Amino acid sequence: MKTEQLVSTFIEYFEERAHRRIVGSTLLPPPGDPVLFTTSGMHPLTPYLEGRPHPLGRRLVNVQRCLRTTDLEEVGDATHLTVFEMLGTWSLGDYEGPLSLDWGYGLLTEGLGIDPGLLHATVFAGDSQIGPDTASLQLWQDRGVPVELTVEDNWWSNGPVGPCGPDSEIFLWSGDCPPESTPTRDDRWVEVWNHVMMTHRRLDEGSLVPLPQRNVDTGLGLERLASLLQGKSSVFECDVFDPWHRLVPTLWPLDEPSLRLVCDHLRSAIVVLGDGVRPANTGRGYVLRRLVRRVLTVLWRDDPSRGVDDLPVQLVEHTLDHFRQDMRPGDVLRLLLEEERRFRRLLERGRQVLARPRFQGRLTEEDFHYLHDTHGLPREMVTSLRQE
Ligand code: ALA
Repeated sequence: MKTEQLVSTFIEYFEERAHRRIVGSTLLPPPGDPVLFTTSGMHPLTPYLEGRPHPLGRRLVNVQRCLRTTDLEEVGDATHLTVFEMLGTWSLGDYEGPLSLDWGYGLLTEGLGIDPGLLHATVFAGDSQIGPDTASLQLWQDRGVPVELTVEDNWWSNGPVGPCGPDSEIFLWSGDCPPESTPTRDDRWVEVWNHVMMTHRRLDEGSLVPLPQRNVDTGLGLERLASLLQGKSSVFECDVFDPWHRLVPTLWPLDEPSLRLVCDHLRSAIVVLGDGVRPANTGRGYVLRRLVRRVLTVLWRDDPSRGVDDLPVQLVEHTLDHFRQDMRPGDVLRLLLEEERRFRRLLERGRQVLARPRFQGRLTEEDFHYLHDTHGLPREMVTSLRQE
C-alpha cells in the first residue's frame, strides 16, 4: 500500500465516523506555544482542547507535518525521522478513549489488513495523582490484544505545562519471527499509534487540574506504518523516500547510517526552508543550520569537494510538492549553498584560530566563551575541529 493510499484510507475511515478533515498547519506552532516547531498534530488545536468550540465541530481528522529535535540523535536507526507526518484524530469533549481505541483497532486490522496477532498495546498503570486507565485496559482485553502497563511511557504531555493525560500506545511487531516479549523490552515492537486521553492540564507550579472537557488526541506515524505495511525494514525504504534512494547513493557513496542521516536532514531542511525559516544562530534558524551542517560534516568526512550544489533539483521539487509548499526549488538550493559557503568559511577561520598557541592545551570555559563570542565558533565545532 502506497503512503498516499494509506492517508486516504485513514481519512475516509474517520470521515465515515463523522470526523471533519482540517488542513494541517505548517511546522511553525501558533504564537505562545512552548515549542519551536510543531511536534505533534495537537499543537494547532490547543485552544480547542482547552474548551474553545472548533468551527468544524467535535470530531476532527488531519495530516500534520511535525519536526522533533529530540530525535536528532536517533536519526539513522530504522524508525526515527526529523520531519515526519502524523495522521491525527480528535474528540473535542465528544467520545471517550475506548471508542477511539476500538476504531484504531478496527482500522488497523479490518481496514488495513494487519494480523491482530501482531499487535501489542500499552496502558497507563496509574501513579500517585491519577488512577490506572482501566477503561483502555478493558477494551484491549476484550479485543484479545496483549497489554503492558507502564507509568511514565503512558503519560503524554506537550511540554512542562499545558494539556496532558494518560495514553494508550499501539505497537506493531516488526520482527521476522513470531512476536515475543513486550514493547518496553524488545524494540522490534514499533510504536505506530498513540491515543491520548487528554483530560488534564499541568499548571506552572506542577499541579494537575482537569480540563473543562475530556478529549481524545491521537497520532499515527505515517512513514512508520507505511514502511511496515510495505514490508520494509526502515522508514527510509518506504515509498516517500523513493527518489532519494534512487539518486543519493549514486551521487555520494555512503554507509547506510550516513545515507539515512543525509537524506533525512536534507529533506527536513528543505521542508523547514519551505515553511519560511532561514538559517540563524538562534531558535528555529539554528535548528535548520544544524541540520545542514550535520549533512556537510558527514559528506566531507570522505571527500571535502562534495557539496549541496550536487543535489539534484528533482529531490527539492519532490519534497516541496509532497508538502504542498510553494517556494521555488532554485531558491531552496541557493539558500542551502549560501549556508554551505558560510560553514566552509567558519571552519577555515576556526582552524586558523585553534592553531594559535593559546589553544593548544586543555580549553577552559573562558576559552569556549571567547571562541564563541569573538569568532562565532560553537562548542561542538571547536571540539570536532580539535579532533581532526
Ligand atoms: N499527541 C500525541 C502524540 O504526539 C498523539 O503522540
